[in-house]
Amino acid sequence: MKKSVLFVTGLLAFNVLSAQKLEIIKLKEPNMNRGSSAMNALENRRSTDEYSDRMLNIDDLSDLLWAANGINRPESGKRTAASAMNRQDVSVYTFTTEGVHLYDAAKHELLPVISGDHRKLFGERGMSPLIILLVTDISKFGDVGTNEDRREWGAIDLGLVSQNMAIFCAANGIGTRPRAGMDREGIASLLKLSDTQLPMLNHSVGYPKLSIDVDE
Ligand SMILES: Cc1cc2nc3c(=O)[nH]c(=O)nc-3n(C[C@H](O)[C@H](O)[C@H](O)COP(=O)(O)O)c2cc1C
Repeated sequence: MKKSVLFVTGLLAFNVLSAQKLEIIKLKEPNMNRGSSAMNALENRRSTDEYSDRMLNIDDLSDLLWAANGINRPESGKRTAASAMNRQDVSVYTFTTEGVHLYDAAKHELLPVISGDHRKLFGERGMSPLIILLVTDISKFGDVGTNEDRREWGAIDLGLVSQNMAIFCAANGIGTRPRAGMDREGIASLLKLSDTQLPMLNHSVGYPKLSIDVDE
Protein backbone atom coordinates (compact mmCIF):
# COMPACT_ATOMS: atom_id res chain seq x y z
CA MET A 1 0.00 0.00 0.00
CA LYS A 2 2.73 2.44 1.09
CA LYS A 3 4.67 1.55 -2.03
CA SER A 4 1.74 2.29 -4.33
CA VAL A 5 1.12 5.65 -2.57
CA LEU A 6 4.79 6.49 -3.06
CA PHE A 7 4.58 5.42 -6.71
CA VAL A 8 1.51 7.58 -7.40
CA THR A 9 3.07 10.55 -5.55
CA GLY A 10 6.24 10.07 -7.58
CA LEU A 11 4.26 9.93 -10.81
CA LEU A 12 2.40 13.13 -9.92
CA ALA A 13 5.66 14.87 -9.05
CA PHE A 14 7.12 13.71 -12.37
CA ASN A 15 4.10 15.06 -14.27
CA VAL A 16 4.34 18.43 -12.52
CA LEU A 17 8.07 18.60 -13.18
CA SER A 18 7.70 17.64 -16.84
CA ALA A 19 4.95 20.29 -17.24
CA GLN A 20 7.29 22.83 -15.65
CA LYS A 21 10.02 21.94 -18.13
CA LEU A 22 8.11 23.54 -20.97
CA GLU A 23 9.33 27.12 -21.20
CA ILE A 24 8.27 30.40 -22.73
CA ILE A 25 9.70 30.67 -26.23
CA LYS A 26 10.76 34.23 -27.02
CA LEU A 27 10.20 34.82 -30.71
CA LYS A 28 12.35 36.95 -33.00
CA GLU A 29 11.27 40.28 -34.41
CA PRO A 30 9.57 39.72 -37.77
CA ASN A 31 11.82 40.03 -40.78
CA MET A 32 9.88 42.20 -43.24
CA ASN A 33 12.36 41.66 -46.06
CA ARG A 34 11.99 37.97 -46.73
CA GLY A 35 9.93 35.75 -48.97
CA SER A 36 8.97 35.84 -52.62
CA SER A 37 6.48 38.29 -54.12
CA ALA A 38 2.79 37.89 -53.33
CA MET A 39 2.13 36.73 -56.91
CA ASN A 40 4.91 34.17 -56.72
CA ALA A 41 3.60 32.91 -53.36
CA LEU A 42 0.10 32.56 -54.82
CA GLU A 43 1.57 30.68 -57.78
CA ASN A 44 3.27 28.26 -55.36
CA ARG A 45 0.52 27.86 -52.77
CA ARG A 46 -0.55 24.23 -52.40
CA SER A 47 -1.28 21.71 -49.67
CA THR A 48 1.57 19.34 -48.88
CA ASP A 49 1.67 15.98 -47.13
CA GLU A 50 5.31 14.95 -46.73
CA TYR A 51 7.63 16.71 -44.32
CA SER A 52 11.19 16.47 -43.10
CA ASP A 53 11.39 15.57 -39.38
CA ARG A 54 13.35 18.79 -38.86
CA MET A 55 11.49 21.31 -36.68
CA LEU A 56 11.23 24.86 -38.06
CA ASN A 57 14.12 27.06 -36.95
CA ILE A 58 13.34 29.98 -34.65
CA ASP A 59 13.41 32.55 -37.48
CA ASP A 60 10.87 30.63 -39.56
CA LEU A 61 8.68 29.85 -36.53
CA SER A 62 8.72 33.49 -35.39
CA ASP A 63 7.85 34.88 -38.81
CA LEU A 64 5.19 32.24 -39.48
CA LEU A 65 3.36 33.10 -36.24
CA TRP A 66 3.61 36.82 -36.86
CA ALA A 67 2.36 36.31 -40.44
CA ALA A 68 -0.49 34.15 -39.10
CA ASN A 69 -1.96 36.62 -36.64
CA GLY A 70 0.73 38.92 -35.27
CA ILE A 71 0.37 42.61 -34.48
CA ASN A 72 1.29 44.70 -37.52
CA ARG A 73 0.06 48.08 -36.14
CA PRO A 74 1.37 48.39 -32.58
CA GLU A 75 -0.37 51.74 -32.10
CA SER A 76 -3.80 50.07 -32.38
CA GLY A 77 -2.85 46.44 -31.60
CA LYS A 78 -4.43 45.36 -34.89
CA ARG A 79 -3.38 42.15 -36.58
CA THR A 80 -2.05 40.73 -39.86
CA ALA A 81 -5.44 38.98 -40.24
CA ALA A 82 -8.74 40.89 -40.27
CA SER A 83 -11.39 39.88 -37.75
CA ALA A 84 -15.10 40.67 -37.56
CA MET A 85 -15.53 43.90 -35.55
CA ASN A 86 -11.82 43.60 -34.68
CA ARG A 87 -12.77 41.14 -31.92
CA GLN A 88 -9.53 39.17 -32.48
CA ASP A 89 -11.25 35.90 -31.67
CA VAL A 90 -8.63 33.54 -33.13
CA SER A 91 -6.03 31.87 -30.90
CA VAL A 92 -3.00 30.12 -32.37
CA TYR A 93 -1.55 27.03 -30.63
CA THR A 94 1.64 25.18 -31.61
CA PHE A 95 1.97 21.41 -31.13
CA THR A 96 5.50 19.98 -31.31
CA THR A 97 7.32 16.92 -29.97
CA GLU A 98 7.98 18.99 -26.81
CA GLY A 99 4.49 20.18 -26.01
CA VAL A 100 1.78 22.70 -26.70
CA HIS A 101 2.25 26.49 -26.60
CA LEU A 102 -0.13 29.41 -27.11
CA TYR A 103 0.93 32.38 -29.24
CA ASP A 104 0.86 35.66 -27.31
CA ALA A 105 0.74 38.25 -30.11
CA ALA A 106 1.23 41.26 -27.77
CA LYS A 107 4.48 39.88 -26.38
CA HIS A 108 5.34 37.95 -29.58
CA GLU A 109 6.20 34.86 -27.58
CA LEU A 110 4.90 31.33 -27.07
CA LEU A 111 3.40 30.55 -23.68
CA PRO A 112 3.62 26.97 -22.38
CA VAL A 113 0.28 25.15 -22.16
CA ILE A 114 1.11 21.49 -21.63
CA SER A 115 4.19 19.34 -22.15
CA GLY A 116 4.32 16.13 -24.17
CA ASP A 117 3.83 15.18 -27.79
CA HIS A 118 0.09 15.48 -28.52
CA ARG A 119 0.30 15.66 -32.33
CA LYS A 120 -1.57 12.36 -32.71
CA LEU A 121 -4.79 14.27 -31.93
CA PHE A 122 -4.53 15.42 -35.55
CA GLY A 123 -4.16 11.93 -37.04
CA GLU A 124 -1.12 10.02 -38.26
CA ARG A 125 -1.41 10.96 -41.94
CA GLY A 126 0.94 13.71 -43.11
CA MET A 127 2.65 13.92 -39.70
CA SER A 128 4.79 17.05 -39.42
CA PRO A 129 7.18 18.31 -36.72
CA LEU A 130 4.88 21.29 -36.11
CA ILE A 131 1.10 21.46 -36.09
CA ILE A 132 -0.64 24.80 -35.71
CA LEU A 133 -4.14 24.74 -34.27
CA LEU A 134 -6.56 27.62 -34.82
CA VAL A 135 -9.29 28.15 -32.24
CA THR A 136 -12.00 30.82 -32.47
CA ASP A 137 -13.59 32.04 -29.27
CA ILE A 138 -17.06 33.12 -30.35
CA SER A 139 -17.78 34.66 -26.93
CA LYS A 140 -15.60 37.56 -28.19
CA PHE A 141 -18.61 38.63 -30.29
CA GLY A 142 -20.70 39.07 -27.15
CA ASP A 143 -24.41 39.06 -27.92
CA VAL A 144 -24.02 40.60 -31.37
CA GLY A 145 -25.93 38.54 -33.99
CA THR A 146 -27.28 35.03 -33.61
CA ASN A 147 -25.23 32.05 -32.50
CA GLU A 148 -25.10 30.99 -36.15
CA ASP A 149 -23.77 34.44 -37.14
CA ARG A 150 -21.09 34.22 -34.44
CA ARG A 151 -19.97 30.76 -35.61
CA GLU A 152 -19.82 32.05 -39.18
CA TRP A 153 -17.71 35.09 -38.24
CA GLY A 154 -15.43 32.86 -36.17
CA ALA A 155 -14.97 30.45 -39.07
CA ILE A 156 -14.23 33.28 -41.51
CA ASP A 157 -11.73 34.93 -39.13
CA LEU A 158 -9.99 31.63 -38.65
CA GLY A 159 -9.87 31.08 -42.43
CA LEU A 160 -8.09 34.40 -42.89
CA VAL A 161 -5.39 33.37 -40.39
CA SER A 162 -5.10 30.05 -42.21
CA GLN A 163 -4.56 31.76 -45.56
CA ASN A 164 -1.93 34.11 -44.08
CA MET A 165 -0.01 30.99 -43.03
CA ALA A 166 -0.44 29.33 -46.42
CA ILE A 167 0.88 32.40 -48.24
CA PHE A 168 3.82 32.85 -45.83
CA CYS A 169 4.75 29.19 -46.26
CA ALA A 170 4.48 29.33 -50.05
CA ALA A 171 6.65 32.48 -50.14
CA ASN A 172 9.33 30.87 -47.97
CA GLY A 173 9.63 27.27 -49.18
CA ILE A 174 7.80 25.76 -46.19
CA GLY A 175 5.17 23.04 -46.60
CA THR A 176 1.70 23.19 -45.04
CA ARG A 177 -1.84 21.79 -45.32
CA PRO A 178 -5.00 23.18 -43.73
CA ARG A 179 -7.06 20.39 -42.15
CA ALA A 180 -10.49 20.35 -40.55
CA GLY A 181 -9.98 16.72 -39.53
CA MET A 182 -8.84 16.28 -35.90
CA ASP A 183 -10.00 14.86 -32.58
CA ARG A 184 -11.93 17.95 -31.47
CA GLU A 185 -13.15 16.46 -28.21
CA GLY A 186 -9.66 15.27 -27.31
CA ILE A 187 -8.22 18.70 -28.10
CA ALA A 188 -10.91 20.55 -26.12
CA SER A 189 -10.26 18.31 -23.15
CA LEU A 190 -6.44 18.61 -23.37
CA LEU A 191 -6.53 22.41 -23.68
CA LYS A 192 -9.46 22.81 -21.27
CA LEU A 193 -11.39 24.81 -23.87
CA SER A 194 -14.75 26.32 -22.96
CA ASP A 195 -17.95 25.68 -24.99
CA THR A 196 -17.39 28.90 -26.94
CA GLN A 197 -13.78 28.08 -27.91
CA LEU A 198 -14.01 26.11 -31.15
CA PRO A 199 -11.02 24.29 -32.67
CA MET A 200 -11.98 24.41 -36.37
CA LEU A 201 -8.81 24.09 -38.40
CA ASN A 202 -5.22 22.94 -38.01
CA HIS A 203 -2.17 23.19 -40.25
CA SER A 204 0.53 20.60 -40.61
CA VAL A 205 3.77 22.59 -41.11
CA GLY A 206 7.29 21.51 -42.04
CA TYR A 207 10.18 21.74 -44.42
CA PRO A 208 9.73 19.69 -47.57
CA LYS A 209 11.01 16.12 -47.27
CA LEU A 210 14.27 15.87 -49.22
CA SER A 211 15.93 12.67 -50.40
CA ILE A 212 18.65 13.13 -47.71
CA ASP A 213 15.92 13.06 -45.00
CA VAL A 214 15.11 9.43 -45.83
CA ASP A 215 18.36 8.26 -44.21
CA GLU A 216 18.06 10.43 -41.10
C1 LIG B 1 -11.68 24.11 -44.66
C2 LIG B 1 -10.69 23.08 -45.17
C3 LIG B 1 -10.62 21.85 -44.55
C4 LIG B 1 -9.69 20.89 -44.96
N1 LIG B 1 -9.58 19.71 -44.29
C5 LIG B 1 -8.65 18.81 -44.66
C6 LIG B 1 -8.48 17.60 -43.92
O1 LIG B 1 -9.16 17.36 -42.90
N2 LIG B 1 -7.54 16.71 -44.32
C7 LIG B 1 -6.76 16.96 -45.42
O2 LIG B 1 -5.90 16.11 -45.76
N3 LIG B 1 -6.87 18.11 -46.14
C8 LIG B 1 -7.80 19.03 -45.79
N4 LIG B 1 -7.92 20.21 -46.48
C9 LIG B 1 -7.02 20.47 -47.63
C10 LIG B 1 -7.77 20.29 -48.96
O3 LIG B 1 -7.96 18.91 -49.21
C11 LIG B 1 -6.92 20.92 -50.06
O4 LIG B 1 -6.85 22.31 -49.82
C12 LIG B 1 -7.58 20.66 -51.42
O5 LIG B 1 -7.42 19.32 -51.80
C13 LIG B 1 -7.01 21.54 -52.54
O6 LIG B 1 -5.61 21.32 -52.62
P1 LIG B 1 -4.60 22.55 -52.54
O7 LIG B 1 -4.68 23.13 -51.16
O8 LIG B 1 -3.23 21.96 -52.84
O9 LIG B 1 -5.03 23.54 -53.58
C14 LIG B 1 -8.84 21.17 -46.07
C15 LIG B 1 -8.92 22.43 -46.69
C16 LIG B 1 -9.81 23.38 -46.25
C17 LIG B 1 -9.85 24.75 -46.91
